[in-house]
Amino acid sequence: MRFEIVTIFPGFFTGIFENGILRRALAEELVAVGVHDLRAFTHDRHRTVDDRPFGGGEGMVLKAEPLAEALVSLGIVAKAEREGMASSTVRPEMQNSGPSTSSVAAEFAPDERAGWALTYPTHATEKSRMDGAPELVAGTRVILLSAQGRRFTQAVARELAGMERVVLICGRYEGVDERINQLYCDMELSIGDYVLSGGELAAAVVMDATMRLIPGVLGNEASGEFESFGVADAEITSGTEGVPRSQHGAGGLLDYPHYTRPADFGGLRVPDVLTNGDHQEIRRWRREQQLRKTLANRPDLLEGAALSAEDRRVLEAIRRENL
Ligand code: 6GU
Repeated sequence: MRFEIVTIFPGFFTGIFENGILRRALAEELVAVGVHDLRAFTHDRHRTVDDRPFGGGEGMVLKAEPLAEALVSLGIVAKAEREGMASSTVRPEMQNSGPSTSSVAAEFAPDERAGWALTYPTHATEKSRMDGAPELVAGTRVILLSAQGRRFTQAVARELAGMERVVLICGRYEGVDERINQLYCDMELSIGDYVLSGGELAAAVVMDATMRLIPGVLGNEASGEFESFGVADAEITSGTEGVPRSQHGAGGLLDYPHYTRPADFGGLRVPDVLTNGDHQEIRRWRREQQLRKTLANRPDLLEGAALSAEDRRVLEAIRRENL
């Protein structure tokens, strides 16, 4: 899968590609990322990307023309012109095909236009077609990141993880000229109910959450499985084989608390049940802890969670304790 990020702060992304699982995913070529400097698509001396809002008011608005040019350079076709095409967009030739290197460090290379783009991994992962014709690619999503977007959730991450290419447009300032949204974007996404000064942090969040669902990206293949919305929460822990797995609070209940050595820390002992080796008892304890944590921190999640009759009984007991 390939992410394309359009931003006025390309430098923001350098660090996140050099650490953790994103670094490994890039090194193993499970994921590729192109970072595109919006200023490369301006033509004036000052490389202007924003302007004052029509109708007046605070702040500046990202201009439509540089954004449209950036998208066109990525082979993105306006929505109205996508009909009858094999896919919503057309992939351009690789923007840079620098020398092969095992490093995931940024390679700054001039793209075919005025500016530069960064591509991770630093060598081409996709072959250009011999005849130079753009290759049709199924499954591209063009996403505008803004506080006005639909909420980004694990379900959206799952949907994106199935795409071939995801284009993330980082909004800035007071906003983005709405015609970019109308003409090119498949969805507008927000990562939560708070205001960020730009879409860059949100793009990093979307990439992290999406990428870790791609097969092979997580070291432990099974890790993603239990976070599935498709697996009813109650089923996961009602099994009788082995120790119940962590669920990371995705979709169902919040996760249970975790402990590792030492068994004594800060005057607190690890709960005895975890050291007794009775898996059935551990399972029941962890499930109860999930219910406690969810009731305390995210009671709203209990509405949509798959709860067994036993879960409801335990919840009732916890509620009575709290009276
Ligand atoms: Cl995607 N952008 C901005 N500016 N603020 C946000 C956001 C995005 N998601 C939550 N708040």
